[in-house]
Amino acid sequence: MTATETTETTETTETTEAVRKVAVVSGGSRGLGRVLTERLLADGWRVAAFSRTANDFTAATAEQHPDAYLWESADLGDPETMRQFVRVVGRRFGRIDLLINNAGVLHQELFLTTPPKKIDSLLTTNLLAPVILTQACARLMTRSGGGAIVNVSSINAVRGYRGVSVYTAAKAGMDGFTRSLARELGAFDIRVNSIVPGFFDSEMTADVTEKNREKIQHRTPLGRLGTVGEIADAVLFLASPQSNFVTGQSLIVDGGITC
Ligand SMILES: NC(=O)c1ccc[n+]([C@@H]2O[C@H](COP(=O)([O-])OP(=O)(O)OC[C@H]3O[C@@H](n4cnc5c(N)ncnc54)[C@H](OP(=O)(O)O)[C@@H]3O)[C@@H](O)[C@H]2O)c1
Repeated sequence: MTATETTETTETTETTEAVRKVAVVSGGSRGLGRVLTERLLADGWRVAAFSRTANDFTAATAEQHPDAYLWESADLGDPETMRQFVRVVGRRFGRIDLLINNAGVLHQELFLTTPPKKIDSLLTTNLLAPVILTQACARLMTRSGGGAIVNVSSINAVRGYRGVSVYTAAKAGMDGFTRSLARELGAFDIRVNSIVPGFFDSEMTADVTEKNREKIQHRTPLGRLGTVGEIADAVLFLASPQSNFVTGQSLIVDGGITC
């Protein structure tokens, strides 16, 4: 092989690697995180995901995409595992181009009777751990020339709902985090946005009673709950070059229930 051929081969390999961008998806095992993982892999991304437990989806995906998919167990309740996870991603893929702070835990209970330990764990899983994960990922992004961060918030952060005040405090915190972080990271060509979903079908909303579901549908101008695919569409828009001039924003995707 001539020197020129060697150079060309190296350049081709580097170009291929550069094109295969890396996305981190928290809570990538089911619900919205699963759909995002499937779509990103189908679009040629490499995906690093975590959740507390593996399932049939994570096992099958690891088998189908041995080079492009990484799943690790990590718990938002133990924020140090976020840094460990990002170290593993760095060693395996060498870069991060997209972070989707998707994992969240909803707990419904009236505020006056919520035990302090529960308040602490809700704020840790829904706010502190995503903030720590973001810092670890953003540091890697700055080294690979930029990227995008999408925080999954909730309409609870923009309208009051009974029984979810602590969850709401965390989600509203993520929206504020989005705006201020966008100001800091713009200089590194890292965009930071939030997606603010209304109710959509997943395990998180499996317990919503038929009566409440009807109430939600009645109050929603489009007359139905969202689908997980519709929420994923909006997340992927904020991750894509189609939103290259959008940063520091919260995009509400709720069929109009908050309008
Ligand atoms: N569904 C809705 O109507 C709705 C509305 C507004 C906003 N959202 C937001 O949308 C996002 C996705 O919701 P979803 O409905 O898709 O949820 P989901 O079906 O309950 O899935 C949650 C994902 O997060 C992981 N997860 C949960 N607790 C975790 C923890 N402590 N550490 C690590 N991973 C954890 C779960 O896996 P493991 O359990 O194995 O850890 C799972 O992969 C959440 O941020 C949620 O707050 C949902």
